[in-house]
Amino acid sequence: MPKPQKHVFVCVQNRPQGHPRPACSHKAAPEVAEEFFWQLQQRQLFDKVQVSTTSCLGPCSEGPSVLVYPEGIMYAGVGKDDVAEIFDQHLQNDQPVERLLVSKEFWG
Ligand code: FES
Repeated sequence: MPKPQKHVFVCVQNRPQGHPRPACSHKAAPEVAEEFFWQLQQRQLFDKVQVSTTSCLGPCSEGPSVLVYPEGIMYAGVGKDDVAEIFDQHLQNDQPVERLLVSKEFWG
């Protein structure tokens, strides 16, 4: 397997009802992850981009959270409709989507 140029981590953390911290899975993160996998397949970028689901990335209150390496760019509040833009601008053209960057308060 070739080393990917970009590795995308999509938080799909779940938590029990009543837990003091929010969870990305309660905010449609599984649908966001599914869209990343769908876009990856549609664009046939398997040798350049790897997508992995993951547990908590930290800024739970801002989720769904998505982290892209090697840059260490964290996106917050990512929705299914944002995924194509992340592919177009960031994953394929190295221009992070500014409007989705998490606040430096959470990742700075
Ligand atoms: S639950 Fe997703 S960032 Fe913590």
